[in-house]
Amino acid sequence: MNPYELAYRRSLSDPQGFWGEVAENIHWDKKWEKVLDDSRPPFYRWFRGGVMNTCYNAVDRHVAAGRGGQNAILWDSPVTGNQRTITYAQLQDLTARLAGALAAEGVTKGDRVVIYMPMIPEALIAMLACARIGAVHSVVFGGFAPNELATRINDARPKVIVSASCGVESARVIPYKPLLDQAIALSTHKPERTIIVRRPEAEAILLPGRDRDYEAVMAAAKPADCVPVAATDPLYILYTSGTTGDPKGIVRDNGGHAVALAWTMTAIYDVRPGAVFWAASDVGWVVGHSYIVYAPLLQGCTTVVYEGKPVGTPDAGAFWRMITEHRIGTLFTAPTAFRAIKREDPNADFLKKYDLAGAGFRALFLAGERSDPDTLRWAEQHLNAPVIDHWWQTETGWAIAATCLGLHPSPIRYGSAGRPAPGWDVCAVDEAGDPAPAGHHGPLVCRLPLPPGSLATLWQREDRYRQSYLDPYPGFYQSGDAGYIDDDGHVYVMARTDDIINVAGHRLSTGAMEEVLAAHPDVAECAVMGVADALKGQIPLGLVCLKAGVVRPEAHIIAELVVMVREQIGAVAAFKTAAVVKRLPKTRSGKILRGTVRKIADNEPCKVPATIDDPAILQEIKETLTLLGYAQAR
Ligand code: COA
Ligand code: AMP
Repeated sequence: MNPYELAYRRSLSDPQGFWGEVAENIHWDKKWEKVLDDSRPPFYRWFRGGVMNTCYNAVDRHVAAGRGGQNAILWDSPVTGNQRTITYAQLQDLTARLAGALAAEGVTKGDRVVIYMPMIPEALIAMLACARIGAVHSVVFGGFAPNELATRINDARPKVIVSASCGVESARVIPYKPLLDQAIALSTHKPERTIIVRRPEAEAILLPGRDRDYEAVMAAAKPADCVPVAATDPLYILYTSGTTGDPKGIVRDNGGHAVALAWTMTAIYDVRPGAVFWAASDVGWVVGHSYIVYAPLLQGCTTVVYEGKPVGTPDAGAFWRMITEHRIGTLFTAPTAFRAIKREDPNADFLKKYDLAGAGFRALFLAGERSDPDTLRWAEQHLNAPVIDHWWQTETGWAIAATCLGLHPSPIRYGSAGRPAPGWDVCAVDEAGDPAPAGHHGPLVCRLPLPPGSLATLWQREDRYRQSYLDPYPGFYQSGDAGYIDDDGHVYVMARTDDIINVAGHRLSTGAMEEVLAAHPDVAECAVMGVADALKGQIPLGLVCLKAGVVRPEAHIIAELVVMVREQIGAVAAFKTAAVVKRLPKTRSGKILRGTVRKIADNEPCKVPATIDDPAILQEIKETLTLLGYAQAR
């Protein structure tokens, strides 16, 4: 048996022993009483009775061990022309000061702090400062509109919000402070205080009595020490798209999260302390939480914070410059980033100017959406290093399936996200909900208990946690993905079973977009589907039926719908295409056949569903989609 197989089998047959040993790599103020508390199935908790601090493990511990002079954070911002490095000793000081400032504002253990930040080091400092005093952070991605931010503020009810004057995208500066002000105006819960990083690219008007300047706060702050918290206490809430416009607040605990993430750096990524690790994502997503912030710092690595894009900042050689200039050993990004590079530079001419191997580049990991084999092969051919697709979700916090480079670097199978990672007992289920044999396509589920680091619950909604994830297949976690597992145990993740779509690796709910479209006064009903896109993987496509008597030009209505989605969900939704149709295809019981429309748009073979109300509608839909450039070989 190879080391992967040994670890995998033991993780399932003896989870207490396996994770108990792994947990020795973390500093505990008090050891746990039980590795796995299984006294209340289907709810499980890891390291019950243990006391520790995540910030101590990610920062102070390394300073104490002599890593104080090593870079902890390396910030590279081609969009502003800046770079900055922060050593572990400096990070300890900055984090302690911001933690002290939050404490001075009355933030204590268990209080929530919302962080709405661009990709600047202060975002990481804010997250770690919360962890330091046991406060629960909730980072909201900067590309979300005020309405989405307000929803999260209402649910998390933060005492303080940490934000910045602006974010900087390739072509424009996005003033964040007015967006934050709008969000607070929209929200019913009002935070007592905001702390604003004022960037030179945009001014921020501070509201007297509520808003404070970050630098002034830091200068006056008294550093705060790490506060010991229970392993089972929440570290953060991260909202993610569910099937409605109401996002799910994924709760991550402290102990299991630190144990699992530090271990993945060795076992999955094969990255040792001192190495430079780059997750080209955003702190607003789970990839950013786990692999820009926590895992690399828990492992004593240098983490890279990149404020730029794979292309256009300034060109398709941006990633190669980053790797060679900063001697990055491992890169983690979404396939869409590589599709963007490949589209602009198909022969990888930019790469010829750089020596990746000479810079110590070792591996590329891809996740966030399915890696199409063409892109994966292209990356392999040009990078001359392993390219590894792995499958995970906001809920799981780390990979459910991967090729574990640090355990056994077995050859990859194109189209598969690898074998289940240790701790994950994955299967596809049949129509009866029972585990199905190899090769069967069906919903992918994971046997409970899930390993440490996966979601503990939904913020103040244990009922919804249970209904969404645990009730559908008793004894299992419903992933919401469907696919199959082959004879050798390789997992193929093919599609979502719900209305979540993946746009450029960003997870979005078509249900949330439908809620926005349905609120337009001229719209009677609507449907939004994720259709294939060569760059972004999927993009949303809207079909709307207008109310009787509406005579306004359709083009005006569609333009308004596009603006509404941008203003209410955010530019990141990339909702740019919609059409007016006379009717939507439905079953006889009134369910809209979104899957059938998607197949027609993507020109996939599709049978006319037996339950369809009126098959003639499909021809009308096909004609409309053809006019939009879909429903034909592309
Ligand atoms: N703040 C404000 N606006 C943001 C934002 C942020 N943090 N991030 C994105 N946006 C805006 C963009 O400016 C863009 O607006 P536009 O419609 O006015 O152009 C819109 O949201 C969509 O952004 P994005 O998804 O980044 O698309 P893009 O067309 O600008 O770039 C790629 C395309 C492929 C280059 C880009 O999606 C990318 O780099 N993807 C990498 C994958 C990734 O990071 N995935 C995260 C999970 S691992
Ligand atoms: P998020 O919660 O934003 O990380 O998105 C999680 C979803 O992205 C998963 O449920 C999948 O639908 C999709 N996903 C992530 N990684 C992969 C992968 N390697 N292969 C296929 N789909 C993936």
